[in-house]
Amino acid sequence: MNISTNCNIIAEELKRGGVVAVPTETVYGLGANIFNEDAIREIFNLKKRPLTNPLIVHIGNLNQLDTLVDNVPDCFQILIKTFWPGPLTILMDKKDSVPNIVTANSEKVAIRMPNHPLFLKVLTKLDFPIAAPSANPYKRISSTEIEHVKKYFDGQLKYALDGGKCTVGIESTIVGLEEGEVFIYRKGGVSKEQLENVLDKKVFYKEVVGKQLPGSALKHYSPLKEMILSDDINKTVLQNSSRKIGILQFSDHLLFNNIEFNFSFKKNLEYASKNLFNYLHFLEQQEIDLIICEKFPSNGIGNALNDRIYRASSK
Ligand code: TXA
Ligand code: MG
Repeated sequence: MNISTNCNIIAEELKRGGVVAVPTETVYGLGANIFNEDAIREIFNLKKRPLTNPLIVHIGNLNQLDTLVDNVPDCFQILIKTFWPGPLTILMDKKDSVPNIVTANSEKVAIRMPNHPLFLKVLTKLDFPIAAPSANPYKRISSTEIEHVKKYFDGQLKYALDGGKCTVGIESTIVGLEEGEVFIYRKGGVSKEQLENVLDKKVFYKEVVGKQLPGSALKHYSPLKEMILSDDINKTVLQNSSRKIGILQFSDHLLFNNIEFNFSFKKNLEYASKNLFNYLHFLEQQEIDLIICEKFPSNGIGNALNDRIYRASSK
């Protein structure tokens, strides 16, 4: 895998029909031209992802939006103005020209404008949008640094664009419209509170576990080690004191004896978001037999973080 920071090389490779790892502010993606069916199939193969699970389409400017949809509802106009470029994906009625393989035969296409300077630069050099799921094999932890992409796909990808460590660190929030109401289908980098503030109305969350909807597989984002969640980190550590443990804690940086690794999220949800997947990548490679993760406070982005650790710890 050639790791590059040269946007011209990456854009040329995408024009040739290649699949390239690209950085975004949320997580790294595996990107390809939405109109090149072979390249899109290659993404599904690389991820070992079923064709029934659609891909998010990434655009670099609003002109590219017109090539994907005929009309943008008023509430989405507001969201686009406020949150793009940024970690918000919007489901909209697609034009016929958007290939069915990208949307898994759905009439809706998921679109976002990512907020990463290098990826945006690449996107504006292209006259087609880029479909990109997260750069991880199906159900594994998403990649938030180029090293993670390398761990998963070295030898399988020709190029990766190195954009440094992802600043948000968890995936975009996915929203859609049902009978005039805005629904969140996947919690992510933009919180429910933020959406309700700008729309000045209630936004709903739709649990879609098990169906082929956004990030909905119950077991997902999973480390290779057993992981359990805790409301009381002291108690949980004590109960498992005979095991080799890695700890992820939010509330306080408590020190324990005989604990192999002990990470603190410093009581800061943004810091936690930026580091959660990094710590999980690290811990899954250590000689431990259990990861204990303290639950996050359920406000703001804490809701999305709890969603991720809940799925990561599902059996
Ligand atoms: O932050 C993100 O959204 C990252 C970066 C790379 O942009 N992408 C990402 O993609 O998380 P992925 O494929 O790992 O997760 C996207 C989710 C999938 O679970 C998929 O089911 C859902 O979005 N999705 C994509 N297109 C859809 C559609 N047309 N209708 C319903 N769900 C869709
Ligand atoms: Mg993913």
